[in-house]
Amino acid sequence: MINGQTVLYAIIGNPVEHSLSPILHNGAFRRMGLNAAYLAFKVRDLEDALRGIRGLGIQGVSVTLPFKTKVIPFLDDVEEVAREIRAVNTIVNQRGRMIGYNTDWHGALEALEEKIDLRGKRVLLLGAGGAARAIAFGLKRRDCQVTLSNRTVERGKALANELGFLYRPWLSIEEMEEDVLINTTSVGMSPHDEESPVPKKVLKEGMTVMDIVYRPLRTKLLREAEERGSLTINGLEMLARQGAAQLEIWTGRRPDIGEIKEDLYRALAIGINREEND
Ligand code: ATR
Repeated sequence: MINGQTVLYAIIGNPVEHSLSPILHNGAFRRMGLNAAYLAFKVRDLEDALRGIRGLGIQGVSVTLPFKTKVIPFLDDVEEVAREIRAVNTIVNQRGRMIGYNTDWHGALEALEEKIDLRGKRVLLLGAGGAARAIAFGLKRRDCQVTLSNRTVERGKALANELGFLYRPWLSIEEMEEDVLINTTSVGMSPHDEESPVPKKVLKEGMTVMDIVYRPLRTKLLREAEERGSLTINGLEMLARQGAAQLEIWTGRRPDIGEIKEDLYRALAIGINREEND
């Protein structure tokens, strides 16, 4: 029940209409018995939005595209790893003092480490955008031996060089020696469901394949990985865990991941049905 004591949290981005974060956070608040609500704000002027957040005392904010990097100069403090990644996806408003964090890398690593021990593993990381950058810094912290591949050579090489990773040209993946494959590109995302970033033959038993795409949930990459006997991790795992880490920063309490995932699965299933009905 929303009343005079309800604490407000929000996501800022543009677009935000299809964000699953309101479902994730409102469901968790309800189960945690917190008098809190979470709304999505489509932001046109970032500086105005941040002034509003301070002025209204919105307690915590998720930041999504295109503001994850742009928001940094407006904050009072930014944790070290978020500064390295150069992206903030979480803000805490401590009585007007705005502090930035990044939970994306955390979410991805937790999803992987639930299944495998990452230390020292050989990883092929596909992509060099914001998500790749967050995951790359996480992998670096676990001393993984990473090879990075990206369609745009300069962008891929720049990120690989920054972290001391090897670079491999895009579409040259005919063979894979790595133990782990992580797709952070949008290849395979709806409506391009029939695309995969790598040929099926490179996927093997004993490999772990993670896709951060969650529309569709079973991407072609993950379907083929399953068929080849690889261990698979879908895009909801990272999404659920980056959100859980946000909740922990905001409330000091760890929500139940299983219940968050159930909410997200249900939301995606309804979304898909709705699209089919429209
Ligand atoms: P995000 O912040 O969500 O990671 P992004 O910064 O737009 O998004 O990055 C998207 C990634 O997907 C990039 O690595 C992009 O490759 P480029 O650097 O060459 O643009 C990759 N990507 C998108 N569409 C692709 C496609 N059709 N084939 C290969 N890579 C693609």
